Amino acid sequence: MLSRRLSLRSVVGRVIAVTAVGAAAIGATLGLFFAANTRLKEANADSVRAARVSAAAFDVRGKITELGSAIRGVVASPDRASIARWRRAESAWEPSLETLARAAATSEDQEQRTEALRFEIRLYVTDYGDPLVRIAQLSPAAARSSDANTEGSRRLQQILDHTDGVAQSAAVEAAQRSADASRLAHQATVAGIVALVLTPVLLILLGIWLARLVAEPLRQTVEAASAVAAGNFDVRLPERRRDEFGSLARAFNAMTQSLATSRRELIERAESLEQSERHKSELITMVSHEVRTPLASVLGFTRLLLERDVSEAERRRYLEIVDSEATRLAGLVSDFLDARLIEEGQFALRREPFDLGALVREQAELTLAHDDAHELALQLPDEPLSVEGDRARLTQVVGNVLSNAVKYSPGGGTITVGARASAGVARVWVADEGDGIPPEHREQLFEPFYRGGAAAAGIPGTGLGLAVSRRIVEAHEGHIGFDPLERGTRFWFDVPLYAGNGNGR
Ligand SMILES: Nc1ncnc2c1ncn2[C@@H]1O[C@H](COP(=O)(O)OP(=O)(O)O)[C@@H](O)[C@H]1O
Ligand SMILES: [Mg+2]
Repeated sequence: MLSRRLSLRSVVGRVIAVTAVGAAAIGATLGLFFAANTRLKEANADSVRAARVSAAAFDVRGKITELGSAIRGVVASPDRASIARWRRAESAWEPSLETLARAAATSEDQEQRTEALRFEIRLYVTDYGDPLVRIAQLSPAAARSSDANTEGSRRLQQILDHTDGVAQSAAVEAAQRSADASRLAHQATVAGIVALVLTPVLLILLGIWLARLVAEPLRQTVEAASAVAAGNFDVRLPERRRDEFGSLARAFNAMTQSLATSRRELIERAESLEQSERHKSELITMVSHEVRTPLASVLGFTRLLLERDVSEAERRRYLEIVDSEATRLAGLVSDFLDARLIEEGQFALRREPFDLGALVREQAELTLAHDDAHELALQLPDEPLSVEGDRARLTQVVGNVLSNAVKYSPGGGTITVGARASAGVARVWVADEGDGIPPEHREQLFEPFYRGGAAAAGIPGTGLGLAVSRRIVEAHEGHIGFDPLERGTRFWFDVPLYAGNGNGR
C-alpha cells in the first residue's frame, strides 16, 4: 500500500520526487557557496601564516647577519668586546629559529627546510665560527687569511639563501591557496547566477506541471460530482490515468453506475407497484360494475316471487332468470379468483389423459343450446383426440373462447368449432362471423382487464377471460392466438398430444 502510494506513478510520489530533485539542486548550490567560503577563510589563514613565516625568517636573517658581523669583528681585533659580541650572537639565533620553526610547522616542506637551516647554522657556529675565534685568539694573522674569510662568506651566503627559501615557499603556498580560493569563488558566483535565473523558471514550470497533474483532473471531478448532484448519473470520468486520479475515476464511475442501476430499479419497482395498484382499482371498479347488474336481477325477481302470487309459468320463468344471473355471478367470482392467480403466477395443474375432441363438442353444444341467433358447425375428428392436461382448466379455456365468439358476433352467423391433431399437438379453433378485432386492439388482447372496444359497445365482461386462458395454455406448454378473418375472427390454441398410448396420426 505504502509502496504503491509512493511509486512514481502516483501524484504523491511524483510531487515528492520533483521536490526532492529541486531541494538537491538548491542544496548543491548552497554547498558550493559553503565550500568556497571555507576555502577563502583557509586562504586568508594561509596568507596570515605566510606573513608570520616571512617575519620570523627576516628575524632569523638578522641573527645570521649578526653572526657574520660578529665573526668578522673577532677576526679584525680579537679583544674581549668582540668575543663577547660573538658569544651573544651565538646564543641569540636559536630562539629566533624556534619561532620560525613554530610558524612553519603546518607545512612539511617548510618544516624540513627550517630543520635543515637549524643544522646548517649550528654547523657554521661549531665547525667554522668557534674554531676561527680560537685561532684568532692564538694567531690573529692566521685568522685573517683570506681562505678562511672567503669560506665563511660563502657559507653565510648559503645560509641566508636557505632562510629566504623558507619565506619564499610560504609565500608560494599562500599564493596557490589564494588562487584555488578565487577559482572556487568564481565557480560559486557562476552557480549562484545560474541558480538565480533558473529557480524562478523552474518554479513556474513546476507550477504548470502541478496544475496539469492535479488541477485539471480535479476540475473534471468537481464538474462530474456536480452533475451527479444534479441527478445526471450518466457522467463518466476518464479512467486511463494510472495514479490516484485514475483510481478516483474508477471508483467514481462504479458509484455513478450503481446509482444509475439503483435508480432504474427503483423506478421499475415504482412502476410495477403503480401497475398493480391500477389493476386493483380496475378490479374493484369491475367487480362493483359487473356484480351490480346480475345481483339486481336476482334480488328483483326473488322479491317478486316472495311478495306476489304468480302463475306457475311465470314462477318458472323468473326462477330461470335468477338461475342464469346467479350462474353469471359465480362465473365472475371465479374469474376474479383467476385474476389473483395470474398476479401471483402460480398454476397447479391436475393432469390426466382425456379426449379433448369430446370436450370441445360438449362445450360447443352446451353454449349454443339456447342460442337461436347462431349456427354451429363442428369440424371434429372421428377418433378420440387424447391429451394429458387439466380437464377443468382446459374446459375453462374452450368455454371462454366459445362465449367470446357468441358475445362478439351479436349479429349472429355461423360459429365454426374444430379440433385436430397435427405435428405432436392438438389444435382447437373457434371461428365467428362477428365484427372482428380492429388492429389497434390486437396487441393487448391477452392482457388482464383489456377489453378493446367491448366496454364502449356495452357488451358485459371483465377482460380477464383471454388472460386467464393464455396462462392455462402456457402452463400446458402450449400456445394461444387468433387470426383475423374476412368476416370475424378465428381463435385457436395448441396443447401437446398425450404420448402415453400411441394416440395421434
Ligand atoms: N371473438 C372475438 N371477436 C371480437 N373481439 C373479441 C373476441 N374475443 C375477444 N375479443 C376482444 O377481446 C377482449 C378480451 O376478451 P376477454 O379476455 O375474454 O374479456 P371479456 O370477454 O370479458 O371482455 C374482449 O373484450 C373483446 O374486445
Ligand atoms: Mg370473455
